Amino acid sequence: MALTSKDPTSTKTWQKLLDHYQVITQKTLLKRFQEDPERCHRYALEVDDILLDFSKNHLTDETLQLLLDLAEECNLEENRQAMFAGKEINHTEGRAVLHTALRTQQKSEITVDGKNVLPSIHQELDKMSAFVEQIHTGSKLGYTGKKITDVVNIGIGGSDLGPMMVYEGLRPYHIADLQVHFVSNIDGSHLVDTLARLDPETTLFVIASKTFTTIETMTNARSARKWFLESGQKNDVAKHFVAVSTNGKLVAEFGIDTSNMFQFWDWVGGRYSLSSAIGLSIMLGVGSQHFRALLEGMEVMDRHFEEAPLEKNMPVILALLGIWYGNFFGAQTEALLPYDQHLQHFPAYLQQASMESNGKCVDRDGVPVSYQTGAILWGGAGTNSQHSFFQLLHQGTEIIPCDFLFSTEPLHELQEHHDILVANCIAQTEALMKGRSLAEVHNEMEDQVDETIAPFKVFEGNRPSNTLMLRKLDPRSLGMLIALYEHKIFTQGIIWNIYSFDQFGVELGKVLAKKILPELSGEVPGNHDSSTANLINRYRAK
Ligand code: F6P
Repeated sequence: MALTSKDPTSTKTWQKLLDHYQVITQKTLLKRFQEDPERCHRYALEVDDILLDFSKNHLTDETLQLLLDLAEECNLEENRQAMFAGKEINHTEGRAVLHTALRTQQKSEITVDGKNVLPSIHQELDKMSAFVEQIHTGSKLGYTGKKITDVVNIGIGGSDLGPMMVYEGLRPYHIADLQVHFVSNIDGSHLVDTLARLDPETTLFVIASKTFTTIETMTNARSARKWFLESGQKNDVAKHFVAVSTNGKLVAEFGIDTSNMFQFWDWVGGRYSLSSAIGLSIMLGVGSQHFRALLEGMEVMDRHFEEAPLEKNMPVILALLGIWYGNFFGAQTEALLPYDQHLQHFPAYLQQASMESNGKCVDRDGVPVSYQTGAILWGGAGTNSQHSFFQLLHQGTEIIPCDFLFSTEPLHELQEHHDILVANCIAQTEALMKGRSLAEVHNEMEDQVDETIAPFKVFEGNRPSNTLMLRKLDPRSLGMLIALYEHKIFTQGIIWNIYSFDQFGVELGKVLAKKILPELSGEVPGNHDSSTANLINRYRAK
């Protein structure tokens, strides 16, 4: 076990934080701003072009110090070093955790089992770039000599959400005359609807699966090959199917020549894999140069996380605030609210990264935890979300810490739109913090006060949020954002004393589905509770 185990609730600081919670809640956020006009500067951090304003949170210097003490007592720095050094910190799967190595240019050696992994990483990146160049220039053509116009990434979870989110996030950088599509769901509609628009002569399939065993991906890949073979011949498959995987044997068994395979390694977790060859579809969609700029941005944040002192460390501060609200204020969920249409899939991507990593109820000694771990992460793009779930953020009974995100530079000419977008984003953070008292409602309603209606117009406020401000959403800043949240998740997992890099919780359902599948056709009898049995029988009787 490369990570030490320490129950955070047994630390000296935990009790102090519990006591401190009683004190901090005596004063509202609004009062804190009124008393300290410098608050927005005191509680802000900048890394490159990203500003984090965390002043609209329930905290003082003392809070921050206590949270930092907690991180220290939980050996955050030592464990952070263990991750970057390639120690076997994914103990339950017996692996290192080295997605950070995938974007490392500034170091010359990172070893796993005594072997420097950087040369193979750079070699694979060069292989991806060369392939992408051949597709873009048309030196690699489809089987009838036509240029590839469409790429279909077939993958699920980490082999889908990351590439899809980044491809959509970098829309202004899309290569002209090439469209990337993403098929993940085993629901046949996903594949059928996508293929309906495509021509097999000009379509390239990227089968993306770390294990090459995932039932959704393998079934979709087989159906895609069948569709292709309705027009092409077996020996044309090589021109239209490539694989991204750690499992060369199964790739070959599927019928893809391993020279058409891009590899990565078992020390890259699925949900942390977009900077590996899993990013091939991104590279095809935006070009090698922009993919490398994405990696560069990720490395900027990696170095910041690795080297900045904890009190000036952006991912650490975000992580500690999450713990502050989850473990001391009882917040069960967090909302991520990018005011950027291109980042509409960012919450869904981070949902997997965060909830698959830290949704654990057993600590590093295998003992059930007595405290809350991973928060439920959700969200959506602004301003659309304002017209759906913001009512609950403002007037619901739950405290939901929010991360707001916007860029100062728009990616279009419609400055008026951008001003309205940003005004809304900033206004929401203010409204959540300030609220609106009954007296203010009366003032605003002037003579027309209807006493029976006034209480419904009150906003209690005092609701916390962070604001992330980018100069511009581009490959580099997007890379920084992704790594920022990756390291937030790591930090929280360390403090919660859990293993963040396994995902055994997804297994049971898969095992049971495998058993139920032959029962649906009556091949084998089942033995289930009455509800499950009845559902199977009703389906069979359809
Ligand atoms: O849902 C579980 C999971 O293992 C994820 O962690 C992973 O991202 C996804 O399935 C896909 O796995 P693979 O890339 O091996 O097909």
